Amino acid sequence: MPAPHKTKQKRGLWSSRLGFIMASAGSAVGLGNIWKFPYITGMHGGGAFVLFFIFCIVTVGLPIMIAEMILGRHTRKDPVGAFRAVRGGCWGVVGWLGVIAGFVILSYYSVVAGWAVDYLWLSIRGTFSAAHASGVPELFSGLLASDWSQLFWQAVFMGMTVFIVLGGVSAGLERANRIMMPVLFLILVILAVKGLFSPGGKQALHFLFHPDWSRLDPPAMLEAMGHAFFSLSLGMGAMLTYGSYADEKTSIPGVAITVSIMDTCVALLSGLAIFPIVFTFGMQPSAGPGLVFKTLPIIFSQMPGGSVIAVLFFLLLVFAALTSGISLLEVVVAYYCDEKKWERKKATLIMGLLIFLLGVPSALSNNLLKDLQLIGGRNFLDSIDLIATNYLLPLGGLLIALFTGWVLTTGLAKGELEKGAVRIHFFPVWYFIIKYVSPVLVAIVFLHTIGLF
Ligand code: PHE
Repeated sequence: MPAPHKTKQKRGLWSSRLGFIMASAGSAVGLGNIWKFPYITGMHGGGAFVLFFIFCIVTVGLPIMIAEMILGRHTRKDPVGAFRAVRGGCWGVVGWLGVIAGFVILSYYSVVAGWAVDYLWLSIRGTFSAAHASGVPELFSGLLASDWSQLFWQAVFMGMTVFIVLGGVSAGLERANRIMMPVLFLILVILAVKGLFSPGGKQALHFLFHPDWSRLDPPAMLEAMGHAFFSLSLGMGAMLTYGSYADEKTSIPGVAITVSIMDTCVALLSGLAIFPIVFTFGMQPSAGPGLVFKTLPIIFSQMPGGSVIAVLFFLLLVFAALTSGISLLEVVVAYYCDEKKWERKKATLIMGLLIFLLGVPSALSNNLLKDLQLIGGRNFLDSIDLIATNYLLPLGGLLIALFTGWVLTTGLAKGELEKGAVRIHFFPVWYFIIKYVSPVLVAIVFLHTIGLF
C-alpha cells in the first residue's frame, strides 16, 4: 500500500508532512508531465495552449486539490464513503465516478508506462550509445509494431504496481520518493539547459511561450483543462484518498501549492528538454504520442555519458509512472476494502487483473485492433484517454467543487482549511473560487466544446 504507516488508530497516517507532500507529488508527477504534456502541447500549437493550461492549474486545479484533500482528511474515508459520510443520497455517485476513472485510466496508463519500461531495458542494453545513433528514431515504431512486446511490458508494469499496492514496501517507497524526485528534476534541468543552448533552443522557447491565440480552439481548451486535472491527479478522488491519511497538524493549502508548483515545473521542464530537439532536428512538434520516445534518445546518443544518463532517465520515468499508477489503483482498492469489506490482498489482485485485461485493447491498438476507433480517427488507447481525461475528470472535478462549495458547511470547510501552521490566510479567496469560479470555468469549457458558446 502506498499509504501510510499503520498507527494505533484504525487508519494509517503519513509518517510526516514531507511524506504526505512526496506521496502527493509522486501521484501528480508522472507520464502526464513527461510523456503527455509535451505531445499535446505540440499538437495544439504551443504557447497559447501552455498559458491556458497554467491558467487552469491556478483557477481550477489548485482550488480543487485543496477541496479534495479537505474532504479526505475530514472524513478519513475512500472517495465513495467520503461523499456519503458528509451527505448521503446520490452524492456517493461522485466517488463512484472516481473509481471508474481510476480503473479506466490505469488500464491505458500501464500500456504507456510499459513503453517506458521497454526503453529502460533498451537503455540498459546500451542501445542509446553513439554507435547506434542513426537507428534511434525508428525504435519507437518498432515497439509499436509489436503487440506482444507491448503486452509484455504492460504486464510487467501492472505486476510492479500490484506488488507495491499489496503492501510491504510502502516505507521504502516513501523514502525512495525523496531521492528519486529530486534526481529526476535535476536530469530534466540538465536536459533543458542543454536544449536551450542548442540550435533549436530559441525556436523552442518561442514555440512554448509565445501565444498564438488563434490556435486555442474549443478542443484545445478542453484538452488543456482536462490535462490540468490529469496532471494534478484530480477529479477522481486520488488526492482525496491521500488527504485521508494526512494528520491534523498539516496545512493542506501549503501541501497543495507545493505539489501544484512541482508538477507544473516538471511539465515545463520536459517541454524545454524536448522541443529544442524537435526544432534542431527538423521534426514535427505535432508528432503525437511518440514524441518523447523519438526525441530524447537522440540527445542521449550524442552527449558524453549519454548512455548512462539514458538509463537513469528511463529508470526515473518508470518510477514516476509507478508512483502515479499506485495512486490510481489505490482509489479502486480503497473502495473495495472500505465499502465492500474485501480483504486488501483480494481487492488488489482481482482489480489489478481486471485493469490489466481492460488495458489489452489499448496495448493492441496500434496493430491488431488499429481499426477499433471510438472517436474520429483515434485508436482505442487515444480514444479512452480522451474520454477519461477530457470528460470524466473535469466532470468529477466540477461535482467535487460544487459539493465543497455548496453542500459542505462553510464552518467545516474553514476549520479544515485552517488547521495546521497556516501562514496563508486565504479562506475567503479560496471559498469564492471553489464556489463560483472553478465550476463556472469548467462548465464554460464544456459548453464551448459542444458548441453552445
Ligand atoms: N497525475 C498522473 C500523471 O501526471 C496521472 C494520474 C491521473 C494519477 C489521475 C492519478 C490520478 O501522470
